[in-house]
Amino acid sequence: MKKKITDFIHKETNKSVFQETSLPLYLTSGYVYNSAQEAEDVFNEKIDRYQYSRFDNPTVNQLEKKFAELEGAESCRAFSSGMSAVFASLMCQSKKGDRVVASRALFGSCYNIIKDILPEYGIEVVFIDGKNLQQWRKAINKKTSCIFFETPSNPTLEIVDIESVSEIAHHYNAKVIVDNVFASSILQKPLNYGADIVIYSTTKHIDGQGRTMGGLLLSSKKFYEEKLKFFYRNTGPTMDPFTAWILLKSLETYPLRIEQLCKNASRVAFFLKDHPKIQKTIFPGLSEYSQKKLIDKQMDGFGNIISFYIKGDKNTTFKFLNKLSMIHISNNLGDVKSLIIHPASTTHLKILKKDKNFLNINNKLVRLSVGLEDVEDIIKDIDLALKKV
Ligand SMILES: Cc1ncc(COP(=O)(O)O)c(C=O)c1O
Repeated sequence: MKKKITDFIHKETNKSVFQETSLPLYLTSGYVYNSAQEAEDVFNEKIDRYQYSRFDNPTVNQLEKKFAELEGAESCRAFSSGMSAVFASLMCQSKKGDRVVASRALFGSCYNIIKDILPEYGIEVVFIDGKNLQQWRKAINKKTSCIFFETPSNPTLEIVDIESVSEIAHHYNAKVIVDNVFASSILQKPLNYGADIVIYSTTKHIDGQGRTMGGLLLSSKKFYEEKLKFFYRNTGPTMDPFTAWILLKSLETYPLRIEQLCKNASRVAFFLKDHPKIQKTIFPGLSEYSQKKLIDKQMDGFGNIISFYIKGDKNTTFKFLNKLSMIHISNNLGDVKSLIIHPASTTHLKILKKDKNFLNINNKLVRLSVGLEDVEDIIKDIDLALKKV
């Protein structure tokens, strides 16, 4: 069920005796024990209390608790970045000899971890076309610890059928990890479709104002206790309390920002789709979008990312980017500011050529994260820049 905006604003419980309107920021690394015995009992897990901020911190816990409730997840842990959450999700449950199956359509760093880092630990990796259920069926076997995909994917907005792929994975007891960054938690709840683990980069829409790095990992309590807890506490990918405090404030406006971002993106996509200087526009809200049925099935909106191909070559595309005046060239996304990037030479630079070709990540492609500016200003900036190429 859709959460009410009121919940995003008021669902917090950690007020101090001062009854402040903004929750307190507990900027502390450690906590004091009343006796040596108490310290031992805490380390032995006989007493449950704050021990060390690498494990738990009241401000970070408040963010985790609030986000878990808003998502309907049993467990939520906060990380120092989206990538540290991605890495932990894979490594906390995979060992030498296991297989990880992933969709090829991934953000560059997700792809790099799976392609280059996991094999160093003796983990076998199989990349497939995430849109093709037959390929998932063929690749997942009883050695598969987990599978990983983004939906929609960065940058070409490919959709994976969460429910069908989860069914296939669960047949072999493999856990399903969904990177839900592009959809945002407002538009898609993978846990409702069978996913086991959901990852967010809070750096994107959740902060949404370009200030902090962070990640969140949602799962069952069982998964946290049995797989993630030991890894998280000992490897230390923890979010710092100040970031958590900022994100608690960000959550208050998060659904409203997403709603308006989606409205702006739809308007911009309709402007781009018939523009004579554009070869092709990818946006789930356009009638020509190829995976409409899946969008209708698992998403509550189209998001704020548009990818499009400029007619011409790399020079033409770079010229277009350089001629923009209000829209910034930046690899972040989900921001109140419109941001644009050329994936082939930046976020997806290290992807193998054959995979880039397969995913149509070429020199004409740009990825636009539509912001909250007046939509007429966004369209005018793009139009003027296109006129100059
Ligand atoms: C789909 C996706 N997943 C994960 C990340 C990583 O997030 P962070 O930059 O917070 O580490 C990104 C960043 O661009 C992303 O686009």
